[in-house]
Amino acid sequence: MQDTSFAIHPGNKKKLENTPYHDIGDLKEFAKEHNLYRFTCEQGFVNILFYRDDIVRIVMNPFHKPTMKSSFAVVAEPEIVKVKIEDKEDSFSLSSSKLQVMIQKSPFRVNFYDQEGRLLVSESEKGMGFKESKEVICFKEMDPEDHFYGFGEKAGFLDKRGEKLTMWNTDVYAPHNQETDPLYQSHPYFMTLRNGKAHGIFFDNTFKTTFDMKKEKEYSFAAEGGQIDYYVMAGPSPKQVLEQYTWITGRMPLPAKWVIGYHQSRYSYESEQEVRELVNSFIKKEIPLDAVYLDIHYMNEYRVFTFDRDRFPNPEKMMKDLKSVGKRIVPIVDPGVKVDPEYSIYQEGIRQNHFSKYIEGDIFYGNVWPGKSAFPDFTKSETRKWWGEKHRFYTDLGIEGIWNDMNEPAVFNETKTMDVNVVHENDGDPKTHREMHNLYGLLMGEATYHGIKNLLHGKRPFLLTRAGYSGVQRYAAVWTGDNRSFWEHLALSIPMCMNLGLSGVALSGPDIGGFAHDTTGELLARWTQVGAFTPYFRNHSAIGTARQEPWSFGPEIEKIIKKYIQLRYQWLPHLYSLFAQTSKTGIPVMRPLFIEYPEDRHTFNLSDQFMIGENVIIAPIIKPDTYHRVVYLPEGTWVDYWTDQIYEGRKHILVEANLETLPIFIKAGTMISHGSIKQSTSVPEKNMTIHLYQTESGESHYTLYDDDGETFAYEKGEYLEKQIRYQANGNVIKLTIENSVTGYQPTWKHWTLKVHHATPDLKLIINGKEVDAKDINFNTESNIASITINL
Ligand code: GLC
Repeated sequence: MQDTSFAIHPGNKKKLENTPYHDIGDLKEFAKEHNLYRFTCEQGFVNILFYRDDIVRIVMNPFHKPTMKSSFAVVAEPEIVKVKIEDKEDSFSLSSSKLQVMIQKSPFRVNFYDQEGRLLVSESEKGMGFKESKEVICFKEMDPEDHFYGFGEKAGFLDKRGEKLTMWNTDVYAPHNQETDPLYQSHPYFMTLRNGKAHGIFFDNTFKTTFDMKKEKEYSFAAEGGQIDYYVMAGPSPKQVLEQYTWITGRMPLPAKWVIGYHQSRYSYESEQEVRELVNSFIKKEIPLDAVYLDIHYMNEYRVFTFDRDRFPNPEKMMKDLKSVGKRIVPIVDPGVKVDPEYSIYQEGIRQNHFSKYIEGDIFYGNVWPGKSAFPDFTKSETRKWWGEKHRFYTDLGIEGIWNDMNEPAVFNETKTMDVNVVHENDGDPKTHREMHNLYGLLMGEATYHGIKNLLHGKRPFLLTRAGYSGVQRYAAVWTGDNRSFWEHLALSIPMCMNLGLSGVALSGPDIGGFAHDTTGELLARWTQVGAFTPYFRNHSAIGTARQEPWSFGPEIEKIIKKYIQLRYQWLPHLYSLFAQTSKTGIPVMRPLFIEYPEDRHTFNLSDQFMIGENVIIAPIIKPDTYHRVVYLPEGTWVDYWTDQIYEGRKHILVEANLETLPIFIKAGTMISHGSIKQSTSVPEKNMTIHLYQTESGESHYTLYDDDGETFAYEKGEYLEKQIRYQANGNVIKLTIENSVTGYQPTWKHWTLKVHHATPDLKLIINGKEVDAKDINFNTESNIASITINL
């Protein structure tokens, strides 16, 4: 070759390393088109559009006028926002009542201020840029006080300052550690906390994106292609950022009650007999259980939408029998369709043109569990509809929940996924897999969720997914993939789920006990304690590893695990009430302490404690052979859930916790609700108790929510919402109880109020009327006063 022209091939020359980004240069022209502001710069085009007073979107395209079509993540439509324009010599400003966008003209830079004139997001030396390779980047200044959260499913500590994070959905079997990045989900979104105030940025670019929060004075977000397309959310509180972000990308629908019960899984329960024996063991041992998962062995040679009739001779009867004892089955459905000309799904997929293809028309084939497989092109609405309808196979058997796995999509090859050169049809707007990769799991989720929802005739569907993109919370719960039975992974799962919650994914959880490797009794016990309070509570483990059903490590460990599964069921009314709020506000049930205490620096990177709602702190033990730990209690007075011991906050305390104890603290002056221990959520609740933790003085408010727990009737007002307002003054407690919505008659006819730390001279005034002292049952040993109240 060296004696041909190849000798002077340009590729033989050393490549320009670290090509700098081109700056988009100075502003040249401005135009307003309806509510859209268009800026033409020397080397790029920028559009600015207010979505609400507190949300603004910036789109930059270096090559041509930007498209304002947003990705599949976005469900919000821009509202009409009153914007004041000021055009000065060097700057240009657009202000709503909550946000001001200040544009410096030369060079073009954008800064964002809140209504009080506080600088939220700023550019100075560097702003937006691009490379000829089509990479785009946006630089922002970093304040010394900035802390960063969100980014979806990421390993490491809670605060992501000092990290560089990539968004590219990836099947990572091993390992998951601090530096394992990316994982299965892509949420190109983060929240900044600075001096007690928060704001958010959502970079809606579906290519591989990178967030560099590693530098001292600036951070950046960049993509391999596409546009700079980001939303600034003004906050100013962390909760408001969550409301804003989930307004853009959607919220988790209220899960059915069985979804938040205890779930048992294994790769795999391999036969009907094994499943029946498993369920019988739970029943015999009186360990609550709501769902059992069927991993890939239930299928006929891993063909989705089939059952292996040798292993599962009568799935319909099995489902029926299990349902009659309150247990549901959740089968796995992967996207890979086995290549087999005699298999109806493959035949239909080929005949109806549902599989992902190259531009030349050849189908992309990749190896997964069934061997050579084709992958539905979920970017086509027709294909999503087809796939969704196929789930009739499961719903006809009485199945209400589906588990989507390997939907990055995972492929057993060097790149771990589909060829990035595949061209997805995308309903007439074809795009490469390089651009659509991160959306594959989300779109499969949309297909599956809507498919089963249509087939369930009013029952709430459940979907669990491994892969996803921003907005996935609209369709699915997320489990955090193939972790290991390591204490480090128990620790890792806590900030990971908190950051998922901060990214809108309120229903998440890890494989309790760890997936790969052999768990130990102690690890399983401690992990189940945490699991009792993670939003999604499933024990799952891999083929060939130690069994990790609750009884696998002898009676002592079984007793502890049982106690915490039971505890979950007792807490369900409280958790369900919180889930109802999450579905309306986007604020997650499991949350980091800084959401409630954004001014308290001890909470900023607190990764081994979390809150359930506003007033409960969970501080688990996450190390072996450890029976005490330091717990941080923020401002307020805190009560130990188990002993009623009182602690003053703004302190680190040392607490003892033997293997049976998960440290839980309730803020004094607040309420939680408890139901009874039951074998599954299908057992109607008969006893409702509200625990009130008495304080000297103060006020609080509790909302108890209940509905039928399995249908969408609540959307038509068929639910109960009980508002309880509490005012304390010495020994006098005033309660105002109001059933603000009464469209549903709960299965409990009365409820018990338990006042902790009551005094014998307690005076209880309910809705203005003093309760007769003889109706108050005061326990002198526990100092708990109880009274029964009719609904
Ligand atoms: C993947 C999943 C895991 C599942 C296994 C077999 O590794 O992450 O949960 O058990 O596949 O389907």
